[in-house]
Amino acid sequence: MLIILLGPPGAGKGTQAERMTRDFELTYISTGDILRSAVKDNNELGRKARQYMDQGRLVPDDLVVDIVKARLMDEDGKKGALFDGFPRTVEQAVFLEKALPDLGAEINRVFSIEVEESELIERLTGRRVCSDCGTSYHLKFNPPKVRNVCDQCGGDLYQRDDDSLETVQERLKVYKKQTEPLIDFYRTRDLLSPIDGNQDIEGVYKQISSVLSDL
Ligand code: AP5
Ligand code: MG
Ligand code: ZN
Repeated sequence: MLIILLGPPGAGKGTQAERMTRDFELTYISTGDILRSAVKDNNELGRKARQYMDQGRLVPDDLVVDIVKARLMDEDGKKGALFDGFPRTVEQAVFLEKALPDLGAEINRVFSIEVEESELIERLTGRRVCSDCGTSYHLKFNPPKVRNVCDQCGGDLYQRDDDSLETVQERLKVYKKQTEPLIDFYRTRDLLSPIDGNQDIEGVYKQISSVLSDL
């Protein structure tokens, strides 16, 4: 089983993924998280990726495809995989489609979380993330119990480098140009479930989990 979360920056992909992996047997694969951890380690991948990420642009397809190949071969016994932030270009989607027969897997559902642009900007500029476990919070919409401390693990919260207003605006532009075409790509393959993301976190999750329960 393969599930894809599609949606603009700040739509709530990571937030929903947390709930989906809690309730369904899915391995979480976020190319954004993998790339951020490479940047933090300052390894070869991180050094190549950083310049793109800091400018709000996409990391080149060949680097991302290599990450996904390695991750998919890393079997961990769960029934399915949940992709967050991959594929993000038509080229990546075509790569995935071609790789599926070898993996003995198929795409079961693509959730496209749709949110108004002004709301996206507010969500991203108010986001705080745990430096230890990666859980996302929001200063106003989803604050931690104790200021700047992660509810899950007690880690410190920080603001992502690419969550400044200027970089957020660039990321939204890049999404429209390079990623939005995937909505039609998956609609024509009859795999798309549009989700109204302009609701509170639990309201969005209700829509997603009811589709997932029926798969
Ligand atoms: P990535 O990490 O994937 O970032 P993104 O797609 O820009 O999305 P975000 O993580 O910012 O948003 P989200 O949808 O997960 O929202 P969240 O749940 O946190 O990618 C980062 C970079 O890596 C890219 O720019 C690119 O450079 C590179 N990259 C990654 N994958 C790549 C690929 N495949 N190819 C090429 N390059 C790649 O929620 C946001 C905030 O809103 C939080 O504060 C949250 O608490 C709050 N919130 C969530 N839901 C709600 C709600 N319903 N109501 C109110 N607040 C909410
Ligand atoms: Mg995310
Ligand atoms: Zn934490």
